[in-house]
Amino acid sequence: MPAITLTTLQSLKQKGEKITMLTCYDATFAHACNEAGVEVLLVGDSLGMVLQGHDSTLPVTTAEMAYHVASVKRGNSDALILADLPFMANATLDQTMINSATLMQAGAHMIKVEGALWLADSIRLLAERGVPVCAHMGLTPQAVNILGGYKVQGRSENQARQMRADAIALEQAGASMLLLECVPSELALEITQAVGIPVIGIGAGSGTDGQVLVLHDMLGLSITGRVPKFVKNFMNGQASIHAALSAYVAEVKTVSFPGIEHGFSA
Ligand code: KIV
Repeated sequence: MPAITLTTLQSLKQKGEKITMLTCYDATFAHACNEAGVEVLLVGDSLGMVLQGHDSTLPVTTAEMAYHVASVKRGNSDALILADLPFMANATLDQTMINSATLMQAGAHMIKVEGALWLADSIRLLAERGVPVCAHMGLTPQAVNILGGYKVQGRSENQARQMRADAIALEQAGASMLLLECVPSELALEITQAVGIPVIGIGAGSGTDGQVLVLHDMLGLSITGRVPKFVKNFMNGQASIHAALSAYVAEVKTVSFPGIEHGFSA
């Protein structure tokens, strides 16, 4: 077991101490993130974009995710490893169980699935079988073709009401954590206060229980040159990657990051 467990994250929420998460795809960065005190390493399917150069996360496979989870595991000693179930790896309940098992056996401690209320059955089945689940809500990049682009979600009153209700239902189904991406800051705060499980935000304001960024984004690395509004380049003013990672942890813990300028309104 790593030093950071689900119990640690729950107690950080209860104490009101912010949780730090970054994406991570290899052993060297896992070690560097450990040294900086990052509590959760997300092996995100964003690797399809930042490592493989695709224009979306859709081409990523479970086998590729397992390869990177195993790499991160070898460099990690302290952090909890959260792994994404990639596009369509949860198309059926059977596939959800089998592909989650593959990622857990590669070294993940928790599985992340993108969606909303329709995830409830699979979350219940996974939790019953000993797999903690993080439900990724709001902007779900695997659904980019339905959403019509990478857009802020939950801006209308109806959408906001639905997202609040879904978050509560997914906690009741057995989710251990929520991740809110590109959600108005006010709504993210309301959801964070409405559930007992930790809520991590990206483009969701400073009111969530913790923050996550894509590693390459926060190190100022970009193929396209398009940087989302919610990203801060932590290399600015730092002499090394280690210093940038430590600055991220310090700014999340002291609630200096994210600033109002990194969030969205309804
Ligand atoms: O895949 C990923 O890196 C993610 C983050 C954007 C939260 O899901």
